[in-house]
Amino acid sequence: RSLRGAAVAAGLSVLVAAQPALASPDGHGGPRYTAGAPSVGDPYFPDEGNGGFDVRHYDIAFTFDPATKGIDATTTITAVATQDLDQFDLDFRGPQISSLTVGKHKASFRREGQELIVTPRPKLKTGTEFTVTVKYAGVPPVITDPDDSIEGWVPTDDGVFVPGEPQGSAAWLPGSDHPTDKATFTFHATVPEGLTAVGNGQLLSQKTAKGRTTFVWDSTEPMATYLATITIGRFQVAESSTPGGIPIYTAVDPQLATQSAATVAKIPEIIEYFNTLFGPYPFASAGAIVDRAPDVGYALESQTKPIFSSAPSVNTMAHEIAHQWYGDSVSVKRWSDIWLNEGFATYAQWLWTEHSGGATAQQTFDGSGNYGRAATSSFWQTVTTDPGPVNMFGNVPYNRGAMTLHALRGKIGDPAFFKLLKDWATTHKYGNATTADFVAEAQSVSGMDLTAFFDVWLYQKGKPTTW
Ligand code: ARG
Ligand code: ZN
Repeated sequence: RSLRGAAVAAGLSVLVAAQPALASPDGHGGPRYTAGAPSVGDPYFPDEGNGGFDVRHYDIAFTFDPATKGIDATTTITAVATQDLDQFDLDFRGPQISSLTVGKHKASFRREGQELIVTPRPKLKTGTEFTVTVKYAGVPPVITDPDDSIEGWVPTDDGVFVPGEPQGSAAWLPGSDHPTDKATFTFHATVPEGLTAVGNGQLLSQKTAKGRTTFVWDSTEPMATYLATITIGRFQVAESSTPGGIPIYTAVDPQLATQSAATVAKIPEIIEYFNTLFGPYPFASAGAIVDRAPDVGYALESQTKPIFSSAPSVNTMAHEIAHQWYGDSVSVKRWSDIWLNEGFATYAQWLWTEHSGGATAQQTFDGSGNYGRAATSSFWQTVTTDPGPVNMFGNVPYNRGAMTLHALRGKIGDPAFFKLLKDWATTHKYGNATTADFVAEAQSVSGMDLTAFFDVWLYQKGKPTTW
């Protein structure tokens, strides 16, 4: 493991993991079994993700105890081996595991930090589809991020609030916790009658028996683990749909119902507006979860069900809805490119503000929190494409990111710019992309050499003056 650790530190693990199995020592080209890489080698979160297999589906079934906030869970992962595997890792920071099987066979496992190291027997040949079933019980942890914010499994007075960006899902779900390993999800959450469990995707069934209700949620499009949620509490539930027929499910803490009603009512209109700008809404359902989690203090674009830790403004709602295109459907390949999520969602907010009669995008760009900041401000000293794990949710990816897009719009003109926004959502739908991909796409759509432009806006420190 120390050698593999060194490869990860050097950022080589992806290459190592992607190599086809070498010819066997006997020269007959049979399988050569090795251990999958313990992570994908993302410098911001060096343990996230795993090599040697691709997750296709997560099925998580649990009962929830509101007294302890604990769960008794069985998660079944369906994956495909991408190398001949005699060992592989999952990411898991959750409670005690009572059993782990690969296919029908009990597998031995050990835990080291967030790595759950599994030894499958029989071994797995490249291309094999296999299942891993993990049973565990206890209270999943709250995870503290490099910026001191919290996520994971956050207790509330009536349940639990479950945000997962950038490293929270492993608190309650064993898996490959990096945006590059997307999968479909099914949740079966059993809670005491009267509580609601809200997950990503569509509600397949809700059945009450003997004082307990089981909610089954099905997330049918590929999803990054950090966007998974199964938030539980006492909620006012409402179902409606967009004018275009996308079903909407909203769950609102009764104590926030009055304060959030106007914002929640705007969801269909926001989706319709973004449909015209970004292309069709990428998922089969939409919605929102409004809960009281004051220690969280932020909102998150959980796929199809953005979650809000307090009553959201319309602007915040617009931001999280825009992320469904930029962040959720098109996701980053490396966390350092987080401006591709946050800059886009922030710029979408500016466009929504202008559309609804507020400040124009130009006025917002010029404002004191944006281009109006003095050239001497420390704001200009962070590089947009590498804010670091502490500042990845700070002002720069959001505001300098949005400014970059507004400046680009001025540079290439509205027709090319809005074509680019749509193309970006289409080309990388359900996938992962990098800043370099965006630069290339901007140049190809506009037919312009934008090297100097992106250099001052994205790759260099300092307040851009000419571009
Ligand atoms: N992506 C979220 C938003 O801007 C913010 C998530 C912040 N997460 C955190 N751990 N601080 O909508
Ligand atoms: Zn955001």
